[in-house]
Amino acid sequence: MSRTGVLFVCLGNICRSPTAEGVFRRKLAQRPELEALLEVDSAGTAAYHVGNSPDSRSSAMAARRGYDLSMLRARAVDPVDFDRYRYILAMDQQNLVNLQALRPSGFSGHLGLFLDFAGKRNAEVPDPYYTSGERGFEEVLDLVEAASDGLLAHLEAELLR
Ligand code: 4NP
Repeated sequence: MSRTGVLFVCLGNICRSPTAEGVFRRKLAQRPELEALLEVDSAGTAAYHVGNSPDSRSSAMAARRGYDLSMLRARAVDPVDFDRYRYILAMDQQNLVNLQALRPSGFSGHLGLFLDFAGKRNAEVPDPYYTSGERGFEEVLDLVEAASDGLLAHLEAELLR
């Protein structure tokens, strides 16, 4: 059986979406039955940072909460992602619009905002890249943790019951 793909998408794939990938992967590791059914990755709609490690501020703030982002490297969204990933989850509205423009007509998966899974309609994970302080990165982590819990519950209900 092919695995269900979950792809987290932001602009640069160095702040928000790698944070989402790292948080979601660690939570998923506590649910091996579900982990075996999923393929998880992240990507950016822009290619400025391809090949780079996550932003050092994202990595440091994530590490404080026990999430390791060090193995992640930025890549750009590729049209074949619509074949491999059934859940394509955008961090904000602009990235969702960019993804909708790439969406092939035959895509039957879920393309939407990640924070829908935190029970927040039309809510965005704010871009922390140009903020000087730590607060923006903490907010990203808070939002991503909440949405990851919601997404895990959703996937458990869909795939394990
Ligand atoms: P991300 O943050 O989309 O959460 O990875 C950004 C990273 C880089 C840039 C913008 C946002 N940039 O303009 O280089």
